[in-house]
Amino acid sequence: MDCKVKINRRDCLTGAAALIAAASTSGCDKEAPEAMIDDSLPSSGFTKKSTAEDVTLGLDLSGQVALITGCNSGLGLETMRVLALRGAHVIGTGRTMNKAQKACDSITGTATPFELELTNLDSVRNCVENIFQRGLTPNMVICNAGINTFGDLELVQGIEKTFFVNFLGHFVLVNHILPKMIENGSGRFVHVSSRSAYKQAPSVGIDFDNLRGEGKFDSGEAYGRSKLANALFSLELSRRLQGTGLTSNAIHPGLVLTNIARSAPTFIRKAFDFLGPYVAKTPAEGAATQVYVATNPALDEISGLFFENSNAVIIKGKHFLNDQSMAEALWGVAKEMADGYLT
Ligand SMILES: NC(=O)c1ccc[n+]([C@@H]2O[C@H](COP(=O)([O-])OP(=O)(O)OC[C@H]3O[C@@H](n4cnc5c(N)ncnc54)[C@H](OP(=O)(O)O)[C@@H]3O)[C@@H](O)[C@H]2O)c1
Repeated sequence: MDCKVKINRRDCLTGAAALIAAASTSGCDKEAPEAMIDDSLPSSGFTKKSTAEDVTLGLDLSGQVALITGCNSGLGLETMRVLALRGAHVIGTGRTMNKAQKACDSITGTATPFELELTNLDSVRNCVENIFQRGLTPNMVICNAGINTFGDLELVQGIEKTFFVNFLGHFVLVNHILPKMIENGSGRFVHVSSRSAYKQAPSVGIDFDNLRGEGKFDSGEAYGRSKLANALFSLELSRRLQGTGLTSNAIHPGLVLTNIARSAPTFIRKAFDFLGPYVAKTPAEGAATQVYVATNPALDEISGLFFENSNAVIIKGKHFLNDQSMAEALWGVAKEMADGYLT
């Protein structure tokens, strides 16, 4: 995008500053949590520049079924494209059948579209029923769909919308699919979280008394909370899956040029478009970590970890990613919120 043509220089710089602040929420705080490669595991050999094609080079995924939510845009579309390229049968979900169908038609390989609107738990339940009716059981589930919010508090069935879409909808989806995957005795869950889970979440982690908009609303914290919920869901799921042959891990894809900032004020979106190519990953690079964690044979028994740049990381500093009691409490609260929609 030509910054000079579309917006003036001042807007561009102000937007750029806002973008950088959003991308690096730690600022100069030396105590802010930071990710470091977990060297208790062998390095994958991949870096932040590796693409989803790079991390799957030579892999044959024929016979595998991969479910990816939000397949029509950004990371979801690239993930679907590469998994299908390597031979997997992809179940691609979109908020409407039309969006899912168009995305599936746009790639080479086998992809079957399904409708999934995460703000509607009937839609979530129906989606899983439709998948099973087609005789498909996933070997890998990539909980990818998500929103960021830059506006005011919105509620879905009385629950803060970002939390509902990014976490609660996927909680119901996974719980419906789980029994059949456990019957199969193997499978992977990949939760697309974010660095915001440890940089932008509320200072207490999940603030259970503010999930229905009871307290103050901060859109950055709301996104951080929802992404922490993704990571804690993965942690508790991993604990519950011990001994089943199934695994669950969470990932941060990096700052990636996708449509995620679609609801941001215009000047931030324009700055994102302008600066993105210098500071952000391409979707091909951004999709690498989730594709790596979903498919790499070396990770067959790796569960309950957090990945960045296709490597497991540990986070130094104050954060809640490994807080098992918060993860258990979140599971309990989610069960109550989804009452009537779980089997
Ligand atoms: N891009 C980044 O820098 C970045 C950084 C960290 C984490 N992430 C995470 O990466 C994931 C993928 O995002 P992206 O960057 O690829 O963004 P994107 O291009 O905006 O794609 C988001 C996808 O989620 C779908 N979605 C949104 N609301 C939904 C709902 N209510 N029900 C079902 N699907 C819904 C969208 O469908 P529609 O197109 O129909 O709305 C779209 O397919 C998200 O979980 C995001 O939080 C992204």
